Amino acid sequence: KPLVVAIDGPSGSGKSSISREVARRLHAAYLDTGAMYRAVTLSCMEAGIDLTDSVAVEAAAENADIALSLSPDEEWVRVSGRDVTDAIREPVVSSSVSAVATTLGARAELVRRQQQLIRDSGLRIVAEGRDITTVVAPHAEVRILLTASEEARLRRRGIQLGGTQTAAALKEQVLVRDAKDSTVVDFQQAADGVVTIDSSDLDFEETVSAVLDVVFT
Ligand code: CDP
Repeated sequence: KPLVVAIDGPSGSGKSSISREVARRLHAAYLDTGAMYRAVTLSCMEAGIDLTDSVAVEAAAENADIALSLSPDEEWVRVSGRDVTDAIREPVVSSSVSAVATTLGARAELVRRQQQLIRDSGLRIVAEGRDITTVVAPHAEVRILLTASEEARLRRRGIQLGGTQTAAALKEQVLVRDAKDSTVVDFQQAADGVVTIDSSDLDFEETVSAVLDVVFT
């Protein structure tokens, strides 16, 4: 029977690593929707598209040839057949991605594609992002908002980036981006029927267990 697990949360909440592991344990597919926003952002930047031009950004989203791994054991993203797995994580992309995420026409296109990918998975998938529980898969069997304190999120993202960032740069990447994203999607508060898991005081394994507990109750 269908098992769509929708997980939303802010930057640094651990949703990507947790979602990937939960997908493995459930023998389910895994969809990182943030990677799709990043891929469109990279395409725009490479094509010299002005990110404040919503008509051009929407067209770029519609025309982007994006392929991404749906396996939790393999991480790759391709744009027009070229591997961009690492390129989409570069700070220049992170700091520009909100411009694409706040272009409503681009969101509509990516939401459509995400819904198609979820159907293609045979409805056995863990999908994570900012609007999965509310827009992409509001009827998912399991809907979770994974949160963490600001302090925990900054600490985790700092470790993930190799501890090389200054505190100010980290804040810019985590808090400023979330504030921009919040203007179009509310992922700070759980929608009706969405279970909140606060991972501030949980380690990786405890957080995975907390998600699996929700799946199996
Ligand atoms: O890992 P982190 O949460 O920092 O970011 P991500 O999941 O890679 O997502 C990158 C960006 O894509 C976010 O900052 C949002 O601007 C956008 N995004 C979105 O708008 N909606 C989603 N469902 C997923 C990502």
